[in-house]
Amino acid sequence: MSRFIFKSDVAPSEITPEEVYRQRRLFMQAAGTLAAASFVPELAMAAAAPSFAGAPSKYSTTEAKNTFEQITHYNNYYEFGTDKSDPGENAGTLKTRPWSVRIEGECAKPQTFDIDSLLKLAPLEERVYRLRCVEAWSMVMPWEGFPLSELLKQVQPNGNAKYVEFTSLADPKQMPGVSERVLDWPYTEGLRMDEAMNPLTLLTFGLYGKPLPNQNGAPVRIIVPWKYGFKSAKSIVKIRLVEKQPATAWNKSIPSEYGFYSNVNPEVDHPRWSQATERRIGEFSRRKTLMFNGYGEYVAAMYRNMDLKKFY
Ligand code: MTE
Repeated sequence: MSRFIFKSDVAPSEITPEEVYRQRRLFMQAAGTLAAASFVPELAMAAAAPSFAGAPSKYSTTEAKNTFEQITHYNNYYEFGTDKSDPGENAGTLKTRPWSVRIEGECAKPQTFDIDSLLKLAPLEERVYRLRCVEAWSMVMPWEGFPLSELLKQVQPNGNAKYVEFTSLADPKQMPGVSERVLDWPYTEGLRMDEAMNPLTLLTFGLYGKPLPNQNGAPVRIIVPWKYGFKSAKSIVKIRLVEKQPATAWNKSIPSEYGFYSNVNPEVDHPRWSQATERRIGEFSRRKTLMFNGYGEYVAAMYRNMDLKKFY
């Protein structure tokens, strides 16, 4: 079981020659056959779909972006395996059309949206976001999407809607990892209502101007850039507005290590490693982790009266 539990990204000084080799292999594969195999369905879909290139957004960082190859070959998507290269190798079996997302719970107008009508609900924006994984690595990724609030408004949340619960697809026929009892499937995540309505929270359909690659959570996922990456659920099929704080997959699995809030916080260590620094994928030296992953001006006010050590 311990193999399946997140481990922090190791310091470069601790990397063994074998790991160096594996890392190098990973990046070389990105330019080679593996990449070709995983690009073909995307290209086919890109031809059929409208442009995914969204308008630039004021919320984007100007930091250097990670490459498409890095973003699509160093993934966490346990439904397709627990190694970083597994999703890129295995997620080709995910069928992303037809696809629908059900939105229900504490609202006046529960609805089921077909993926193509969901896509047309609001104009797409390009959001270049830092994503900081709980394992102490990070990337800068150009996502295409629109604020989740645009969708939530459609169903008219009522006064009992205090939290939002997201459910990912869990189909053992398409997802080999779901037959392993790594997590209690389906993968679920959640946000408080104000977090879900925050303009930074993105309902995400694309990456680098193309439809989301399967390994990154096609056809639709959530991106919450000020929280550890595991809050950003992939390939979602259901959204529920609820009154009580929902159970979430990682919190159920190891509650002492993965809290509900999971805001990026360099001052609150993971019980097994420090969260003070991170390694940007593609770089060797470590950089300091920023409070709220650098998005404090937009989100800090939501936590003004909270003890973030207690609500980790
Ligand atoms: N969503 C589902 N359904 N299953 C997962 O295993 N992993 C999470 C998150 N969303 C995960 C998921 C974690 S730990 C991270 S860091 C991000 O997805 C990684 O997203 P990326 O592969 O697009 O970088």
